[in-house]
Amino acid sequence: MKDITLKIDNKEFKFPVVIGTENEKGIDISKLRAETGYITLDPGYANTGSCESSITYTNGEKGILRYRGIPIEELAQHSDFIEVANLLIWGTLPTKVMRKRFTDLLTNNALLHEGLKHHFEGFPFDAHPMAMLSAMVNALSCYHPVLALPHSSREIEKAAAILISKIRTITAFSYKMSRGEPFIYPKPEFSYVENLLYMMFSLPHEPYEVRPEVKRAVDLILILHADHEQNCSTSTVRMVASSGANLFASISAGIAALWGHLHGGASQAAIEMLEEIHSGKMDVKQYIKMAKDKKNSFRLMGFGHRVYKNYDPRARILKKLSRNVFKVLKYKDHLLDIALELEEIALNDPYFIERKLYPNVDFYSGLIYRAIGVPKNMFPVFFAIGRLPGWIAHWKEATDINRLQIARPRQIYTGPAKQSYVPMDKRSAAISKN
Ligand code: SDX
Repeated sequence: MKDITLKIDNKEFKFPVVIGTENEKGIDISKLRAETGYITLDPGYANTGSCESSITYTNGEKGILRYRGIPIEELAQHSDFIEVANLLIWGTLPTKVMRKRFTDLLTNNALLHEGLKHHFEGFPFDAHPMAMLSAMVNALSCYHPVLALPHSSREIEKAAAILISKIRTITAFSYKMSRGEPFIYPKPEFSYVENLLYMMFSLPHEPYEVRPEVKRAVDLILILHADHEQNCSTSTVRMVASSGANLFASISAGIAALWGHLHGGASQAAIEMLEEIHSGKMDVKQYIKMAKDKKNSFRLMGFGHRVYKNYDPRARILKKLSRNVFKVLKYKDHLLDIALELEEIALNDPYFIERKLYPNVDFYSGLIYRAIGVPKNMFPVFFAIGRLPGWIAHWKEATDINRLQIARPRQIYTGPAKQSYVPMDKRSAAISKN
């Protein structure tokens, strides 16, 4: 495609057009300011591409999500989380040898250094697990200084295994700490998800077995959360990586960004919204009315999406999964009935239809977590476990270039024009004049 021409102050400027694999088009404005003196302004970056990436593709209008070109529906059906992690990080589905090597690395790196384990004693018992997770992941660089800035493929593989394995242990230990229960250590013969659930829910004095349907459900949830282009937390990981910060610090920053209720924190907020409706505080119609009220900052949690202007393909899979898990566990939850009623009303309401607001990945995930006993404040933690391979893949892609380019957006200044310093004795008079 040829360049595009921009006419500014009767002068024409040409800018190259970048075309993606799926024919997405981007105007390369890297020389805009140098040539025209103008910058662009795009709060929230809804129209701005920060990079070219070969990891994940979404098409919001068609509800498409593909990891390295493979549709999420096929991965959900045929793959598992560890295979998807390798696909995202290395760009191909792992061979048997790669898979075995990575699985052994996960097993051998499941424990936390005793020094790191003692950090839990410093947190209040009711500390939010996302605060602990972000802090503990950042602290990993103190125990693995060399792997904090991995360069060779083997170093990246080891660092990825350390993170993906230990995020599970940190999650389980923070859950145990909140309940005053002893830490449970992983078993080498257990799979990734089995060990996560075993370390969280087993107790030393009684037998515990992970039901295969629950194991598969959690594995599937982690696959669905594994990556999603340049979302807020992934962009944060890339932004931090661009300064040359280490992998653990970048991931820790991603965890912090994911915690927000407009992002991964929505999984917890969505359940709290359904619980409030269930408590009778307000009914579904009142919530919908509040969500539509421009004067009210309330948003329907688990609804809407910056990219998807169609049903989030992950929400479609999670909705079906929630029903299957409830059936297998013979579990009833009024919150599912409320969620289905909320979705039904919203999807037939002109306000939501005009704005193309559909349930997103966070609308149904919490119902499944509830059914398997995961507490609300750990829903974003499970989101982080799933998203970790995506973050690592993006850190690798962002730093995999021969010259690191620090991310440093511009701004349009709207503060006071030049003014002089006001000595203390003149200030109150000066301020009252303003
Ligand atoms: C995730 O980016 C990703 O890929 C994220 C994610 C991932 O995998 O990483 O998919 C995970 O974060 C999913 C989103 C989870 N967040 C929530 O469920 C929180 C509730 N949703 C909204 O806050 C909102 O939809 C966002 C934040 C998700 C998207 O916000 P945008 O793109 O900035 O959209 P917007 O706020 O500009 O909304 C456009 C219009 C507005 O109305 P008008 O001003 O045009 O009249 O839609 C309205 C909004 O008021 N709107 C909503 C709404 N979401 C948007 N109104 C009521 N309820 C909502 N949920």
